[in-house]
Amino acid sequence: MVEEHFIPKKYTNSIDNGSFTWSSPSNIALVKYWGKKEHQIPENPSISFTLNHCKTTTKVSFSKKEDASGFSFDVFLDNEKKDDFKPKIETFFKRIDVCLPFLKDYHFKIETTNTFPHSSGIASSASGMSALALCLMSIEAELSLDISKEDFTKKASFLARLGSGSACRSLEGDLVVWGKHDAITGSSNLFGVKYPYQVHSNFKNYQDTILLVDKGEKQVSSTVGHNLMHGHPFAQERFKQANKNLSDMISILKEGDLDAFIALVESEALTLHAMMMTSMPYFILMKPNTLEIINKIWEYRKTSGSKVCFTLDAGANVHVLYPEKEAEKTLEFIQNELLAYCQGGQYICDQIGIGANQL
Ligand code: PMV
Repeated sequence: MVEEHFIPKKYTNSIDNGSFTWSSPSNIALVKYWGKKEHQIPENPSISFTLNHCKTTTKVSFSKKEDASGFSFDVFLDNEKKDDFKPKIETFFKRIDVCLPFLKDYHFKIETTNTFPHSSGIASSASGMSALALCLMSIEAELSLDISKEDFTKKASFLARLGSGSACRSLEGDLVVWGKHDAITGSSNLFGVKYPYQVHSNFKNYQDTILLVDKGEKQVSSTVGHNLMHGHPFAQERFKQANKNLSDMISILKEGDLDAFIALVESEALTLHAMMMTSMPYFILMKPNTLEIINKIWEYRKTSGSKVCFTLDAGANVHVLYPEKEAEKTLEFIQNELLAYCQGGQYICDQIGIGANQL
């Protein structure tokens, strides 16, 4: 499917104003996306768990304006005007303008809130861009009226991808694949798809406790990070490995093989960080407490036989993943042994969720 598919025919309806509100979740990748080509095309396919509680809610109010010469919008976070968010949204609007030709016809008021603390080191770009894309799609659906639910979600994911790559995995489904993979029917570089195969009950309500090791701004933006994969000495091997890991994930998810899941997920997290450490310039995104936590998890797993494991984003915070049936014991372990390594003792309890919803 090529981009033209997402360029609408002439709109059949006209509206002067209105508003839509969507709530979109964050997601945590199991097989990581790190490295992209032009137009936000990933170098390798990825798969993520959709989160249930870490969400962004966005309301987009729109009113027709006199001239359609440029983009016009204001952004608010928690009711406070945020002009520093505007350049990112302006860039997003420019990228998607051809697919949403109504964008210059309206003034938009974009009001957004996150369920997780703003300065928590948890990126809000995935949930934020997903929620914004869904609101814009709701406007398009009013203007066209004949768009199917499936096409609506697909195009929203396509648009979200152009805002922030991983955002295209924050629309629909508990496990979402983005990036073409031969063994995954329907997978695409252009949008995320619900993981289409059998998933063992071991993964039902899988738990994710996010330990806030470093609540500061990201040390390296993901744009810079992705760019460092261009000409990276290990890039091609890494992309191959991600493809293989996604193939292996299919049987792991089907069989409910938690030991293999742990090995794959932890290796993916460490590989992502290894890519940053071996790029030029190089970065260490972990903090000493990230390592303390990882070692504690390994020690606990060894002595208790628990199936707890960790994954990391491109930062110092640790996502602690574990099966629902181990929830009580693992939380006790986290509270007793890991909270000392979190900034302000802060953590967020989450679990696998099902996707975005309209409010
Ligand atoms: O969506 P971006 O461009 O912020 O990249 C995110 C990349 C990782 O979060 C590190 C991995 C992933 O697949 O989500």
